[in-house]
Amino acid sequence: MTIEMSEVWKTFGEGHTAVHALRDLDLVGPQGEFSVILGPSGSGKTTLLNLVGTIDDATRGRIEVTGIDLANLDVDGKVKFRRESVGFVFQFFNLIPTLTAAENVELVADLTLDNGAERAAEVLNQVGLGDRMHHFPAELSGGEQQRVAVARALVKQPPILLCDEPTGELDFETGRMVLDLLQRISRDAKQTVLLVTHNAAIGEIADRVLRLRSGKIVDDVRNANPVDACALTW
Ligand SMILES: Nc1ncnc2c1ncn2[C@@H]1O[C@H](COP(=O)(O)OP(=O)(O)O)[C@@H](O)[C@H]1O
Ligand SMILES: [Mg+2]
Repeated sequence: MTIEMSEVWKTFGEGHTAVHALRDLDLVGPQGEFSVILGPSGSGKTTLLNLVGTIDDATRGRIEVTGIDLANLDVDGKVKFRRESVGFVFQFFNLIPTLTAAENVELVADLTLDNGAERAAEVLNQVGLGDRMHHFPAELSGGEQQRVAVARALVKQPPILLCDEPTGELDFETGRMVLDLLQRISRDAKQTVLLVTHNAAIGEIADRVLRLRSGKIVDDVRNANPVDACALTW
């Protein structure tokens, strides 16, 4: 079991202005499962990923990831945890503009691997960007930038992959290509994936579809036969 959340609350602010982004949320994400989390804007999707990725702390409740109780990690422990165990893919790519594609990926690879440059080139080839890896982000299309971001998230083969609206800024064809990469690579590496989106059609590619509303999981359905992302339409 890789991700285990029990009775988790996340409250922003206090008193009259308090906002409960997550309310008493329970979730078990077994190792290797690809879950899509659907929910309208403001339902707590980003907050959920931020807590699992230790970008933010829960107000109450317990979160265990790969057997580690996140509440027991100090600042250094969280940095180590994020480096070794989690890959992030964001809606707006978040690449460093002054570094090439290869350097963006190497930067992350070098934190934990001895053969960072080699491994960065390998994963950039895997996402189909072998011939563009010395380009800067501004010289790449949105879809190519997101593929660099996918390469960056996957380069250290983290057990957990967190994707926040990874196709939100992409057109249909490009978005589908990014989903195909995420699906295939994470499946091969047996990663546990939480992919957040408000596009319900994307749920079809997942092993499991969770619906979040007002900070609670209101629906949890397993797909017996997830479709390949390349066959997706919306
Ligand atoms: N840093 C913050 N300070 C105050 N409120 C926040 C903060 N982050 C999120 N919220 C609130 O928490 C709720 C859930 O937000 P979020 O997790 O971003 O939702 P989603 O990603 O589903 O759109 C919203 O009501 C949002 O306004
Ligand atoms: Mg969000």
